Amino acid sequence: MAIEINNILVIGANGQIGSVLTPALENTFGKKCIIASDIYYKDKFVNNFEILDATDYHALEKIVKKYRISQIYHLAAILSAKAERSPREAWEVNVNSFFNVLEVSRKHNIKKVFYPSSIAVFGSHADLDQTCQFSSLNPSTIYGASKVAGENLAQYYYSKYNIDVRSLRYPGIIGYQSLPGGGTTDYAVDIYHKAISGEVFDCFLEKDSSLPMIFMDDAIKATLQLMNAESESVKIRTSYNLSSMTFSPEEVFLSIKKYYPEFKINYKPDFRQEIANSWPRSIDDSRAREDWGWSPDFDLQSMTEVMINNLRKKRYESA
Ligand code: NAD
Ligand code: SER
Repeated sequence: MAIEINNILVIGANGQIGSVLTPALENTFGKKCIIASDIYYKDKFVNNFEILDATDYHALEKIVKKYRISQIYHLAAILSAKAERSPREAWEVNVNSFFNVLEVSRKHNIKKVFYPSSIAVFGSHADLDQTCQFSSLNPSTIYGASKVAGENLAQYYYSKYNIDVRSLRYPGIIGYQSLPGGGTTDYAVDIYHKAISGEVFDCFLEKDSSLPMIFMDDAIKATLQLMNAESESVKIRTSYNLSSMTFSPEEVFLSIKKYYPEFKINYKPDFRQEIANSWPRSIDDSRAREDWGWSPDFDLQSMTEVMINNLRKKRYESA
């Protein structure tokens, strides 16, 4: 009788999402089954960690064979703001590495793949408010263009090769556990750190620049829920719209000010303002709710409370 191996490879495990999703997967499936990987070493993952440049197909294939991988969570990417500075690298990492993941899945019978897309897939042909699932996709950034390409690759490999690829269009993700890596929504994490350390916050977006956001716990919940859903209920094979809350820099600032009345903010918009202007303000995620039962737990104020409590705790513990 063949022994079924259910090892899961996380690519980009050191990043903002990976450093929270990887322990969540370890809790769900057991530490032995999870293989964390990234382009650089971080001693956070002591169990199974491999250095992997996911743009190198042969290096990826070697790890897949070594651990007899049956699922991949492919998180490696260059985020929106950083990508604008190096479009070639962004395309290489964001598209070619995902292509490698799909090819290795086809050749080595990998059962399931998770691919994170983004609200950045939308552009001027989509409504900015309550942007619907099947709006036109004409992004104005190289990051958005790479995510549209990834979504189409996901659908192609699903329909042509029956690879069970599942994907979410994440809003900006906010968590206390890890720092973001070069996106346009990064300010919404940084602002909490500045408040806790008693500094003035220089915001690179305008005070009323509203964007869709989600608390890390909800983002992880949605990811695991989608990946554990019955295959028949996953009806969208490009990527699901996902929504939780919408706020502007001024609104998150005011929610923090309830805890830090002396906290101060300066608005100094830079090139990231143009990126933010091209993205939706809010998202219609009714298909995720209908198809696999998505609903978020956190709103702005409940997220702010958890963010501040945990960042205070971390600061106290590291003092
Ligand atoms: P991040 O930048 O924090 O992490 C990405 C990780 O990928 C990093 O640890 C980096 O070292 C690694 N990486 C880069 N190039 C690599 C390569 N060639 N091979 C292997 N690893 C490589 O990003 P994140 O915020 O954790 O995002 C994870 C995924 O979610 C990305 O695909 C991103 O586009 C998507 N996403 C994130 C957000 C967000 O707000 N954080 C929103 C929408 C979508
Ligand atoms: N939060 C991400 C970024 O700002 C969007 O995918 O790049």
